[in-house]
Amino acid sequence: MPKRTVKPSQTARLLNHGPTVLVSSRHRERDNLITLAWTTPVSIDPPMVAIAIAPGRYSHELIARSRAYVINVPASGLLSAVWYCGTRSGRNGDKFQGARLTRSASAIVDAPRVAECFAHIECRVVKAPSVGDHTLFVGEVVSAAVEREAFDGRLRLRRPFHTLHHLGGSEFLTSAGTRLVAP
Ligand SMILES: Cc1cc2nc3c(=O)[nH]c(=O)nc-3n(C[C@H](O)[C@H](O)[C@H](O)COP(=O)(O)O)c2cc1C
Repeated sequence: MPKRTVKPSQTARLLNHGPTVLVSSRHRERDNLITLAWTTPVSIDPPMVAIAIAPGRYSHELIARSRAYVINVPASGLLSAVWYCGTRSGRNGDKFQGARLTRSASAIVDAPRVAECFAHIECRVVKAPSVGDHTLFVGEVVSAAVEREAFDGRLRLRRPFHTLHHLGGSEFLTSAGTRLVAP
């Protein structure tokens, strides 16, 4: 099969089909939300996940200081909130209010969950290496919860819940295979 060369700088596009998430953070009573495509599990025992955030982001400042974050997994119906949180900085206003999302209490960490999301992974930062132009916040999972109807007993996502996957620009694919364009 013929292949075409892809620039090394574009290779994230070949891998980042995992769910786009909303990461919440809090430091000194200031809360924030950031949309992230770059997330990955990195260890089973102890359970650890990593998120890559560019140093200029307000969320970077809050997470670097508080050493905690919550990964919230939105269903495809939250596309406009996901886009809102990925195109504005929390330095300029409260994104929970702007995106019409609701804070709910976390079980362990001092950062809010997003009530409208169907899964929450609470993490404490254990390492934060600088990698190129992003910081890789490696978090130990200290608590997690899912909406009962969203998953079966083996944590397989059930219909009608579908995740959002970023294709680039304002285009997304849902796990149902539908292409969506952010408003
Ligand atoms: C779909 C999507 C995925 C994104 N993924 C990332 C990411 O993985 N890492 C990152 O640093 N920024 C990512 N961004 C950009 C941030 O979400 C954006 O810069 C945001 O406005 C930062 O908010 P803050 O300054 O309030 O933290 C993404 C944006 C979108 C729309």
